[in-house]
Amino acid sequence: MILTSLIILLLGAASAIASPIKRTISNGPVINRDFPDPGLMRDSSGTWYAYSTSSSSGLVPMSKSADFVTWSTPVNILSAIPWADGSVWAPDVREITTGHYVMYFTGHRRGGPVNDHCIGIATSVSPDGLFTANSNPHICDLAHGGAIDPSGFEGPGGALFLLWKVDGNSIGQSTPIMMQPVGANGFDLLGSPIQLITNDPIDGGVVEAPSMIFWDGWFYLFFSSNNFNTLFYDISYAVSQNVAGPFTKVPGPNAPFLTSGTRGTAGPGGATAINVLDQFVNMAFHSDINGENASGGRAMWTVSNVCLGGGVAKAC
Ligand SMILES: *[C@@H]1O[C@H](CO)[C@@H](O)[C@H](O)[C@H]1NC(C)=O
Repeated sequence: MILTSLIILLLGAASAIASPIKRTISNGPVINRDFPDPGLMRDSSGTWYAYSTSSSSGLVPMSKSADFVTWSTPVNILSAIPWADGSVWAPDVREITTGHYVMYFTGHRRGGPVNDHCIGIATSVSPDGLFTANSNPHICDLAHGGAIDPSGFEGPGGALFLLWKVDGNSIGQSTPIMMQPVGANGFDLLGSPIQLITNDPIDGGVVEAPSMIFWDGWFYLFFSSNNFNTLFYDISYAVSQNVAGPFTKVPGPNAPFLTSGTRGTAGPGGATAINVLDQFVNMAFHSDINGENASGGRAMWTVSNVCLGGGVAKAC
């Protein structure tokens, strides 16, 4: 009896030692150079891929990782875009079917006014590229400030959607986050777009960078609010139990998901969260390298095993 108690005690002590506090935000940047607005993807072989806004590494830099810890030096994977000039913003890549990868990106329409941003489509047979852009832009909304920050979403049951931000703050207007069903090729638009959320006074004039996941009965719509070039930039989220909403922005203390100062981040935002085979949810986001603003570049950080349940998401 005494021996059994002793064994139970020892087992208890051992399991306490074996379970340190789980810290899931990367201890600093995993890509320590300019790599803003990362899109995150895991292909069917289990390799992780990240794609960023244009930088000195290329029009769309790509970095990959076998273990979600060590990432390769970014290289360009997008060829010249027929309809666009200048930088590409906030790419997101999805493996729609085996050997069919679709990139959603933001480009500036050649010859248009400065805020004439459109969502473009590029495709590749490999996540390593090269991706080739379609000959025309896919969604433009110049009248409301442009269409930017696209991301794909696969709902339970396999339905595909495209999300984006109406860039209203470029003309002093609101910034609705829109969603529209797409066809089996991952981009043909079906039906009509619906508005999921828009900016409220608490959002500092902007909501952007939407990224949707489904987990255990809940749709989580991650987004960034406030000006990306300040330490107020953050990662927040809204939830619904219906893909079409209504979405409720989660209030404090369960949101924002991540703000400046948490684990050394500065202006965290531009996040992409992905549900990996209903087993776990990982995220990539950017944080200011100079600790103050975007002028010194934005490095990629990660969160592994996002804690999710009952409409609450935590980098626990
Ligand atoms: C951005 O941060 C740098 C310091 O890293 C500072 O010199 C510069 O003034 C800041 N820019 C703005 C617009 O605040």
